Amino acid sequence: MNPIKHVAIIMDGNGRWGIKYKKSRNLGHKAGLNTVEKIIKSTLENKIKYLTLFAFSTENWKRPKKEIRFLFNLLDNFIDKKIKEFNQNNIKLKIIGNINVFEKKLKNKIKKSEQLTKNNTKLQVNLALNYGSKSELIDTFQKLNKENKNINIKNIEKNLYTSNIPDPDILIRTGNTNRLSNFLLWQLAYSEIFFEKKLWPDFNENDYNKILKKFKKIKRNYGNI
Ligand code: FPP
Repeated sequence: MNPIKHVAIIMDGNGRWGIKYKKSRNLGHKAGLNTVEKIIKSTLENKIKYLTLFAFSTENWKRPKKEIRFLFNLLDNFIDKKIKEFNQNNIKLKIIGNINVFEKKLKNKIKKSEQLTKNNTKLQVNLALNYGSKSELIDTFQKLNKENKNINIKNIEKNLYTSNIPDPDILIRTGNTNRLSNFLLWQLAYSEIFFEKKLWPDFNENDYNKILKKFKKIKRNYGNI
């Protein structure tokens, strides 16, 4: 049976869920946050070491200002509410993406939370914020170039935002859309991909456990036979 070290998730479908049930995209994001909490809990229960959640992409800046503001407020509240619980449950928070462009207060709060949880070992939750895989790769190549280092697999992996994190075994994308949307393009090279029809706020522990069970039965070849 395949062990599972790392699950990555594209949490898609909040907007559509919000319009359908609450006439508001933002209320869809709010409902999506409940699913985030459920899935973190379930990841802990399944003894998985890494969970990476795509919360805000480099392309999401194109959305209406009001929606962006709402998402950042949710994030802000999430950190306030959760960081104590993360420590109690031995969970480490890590951000992947460029948060230097965030408002100073939020940026400092995020950095402080990373600092506060950095020695926790049971689960690492990677939140992808202002994350885009192409930017990550460019940053990585530029860094190697500046340090006069060879462009090879080892050096690239050591310098990605995800250095020291094993590649995802599983990628889940909810919301009935079958694409990668500039998420972890390097790291997903050999991941098993599960596209899920349900919208993110409707996704639950049962759906998650079914995917984990299916994954365990897959024969992974990595190019071999
Ligand atoms: C994609 O759905 C979802 C996002 C861009 C944001 C994800 C945010 C959350 C799940 C809540 C906040 C999370 C944290 C950790 C603070 P969409 O809006 O693109 O959905 P659509 O395809 O139906 O429009």
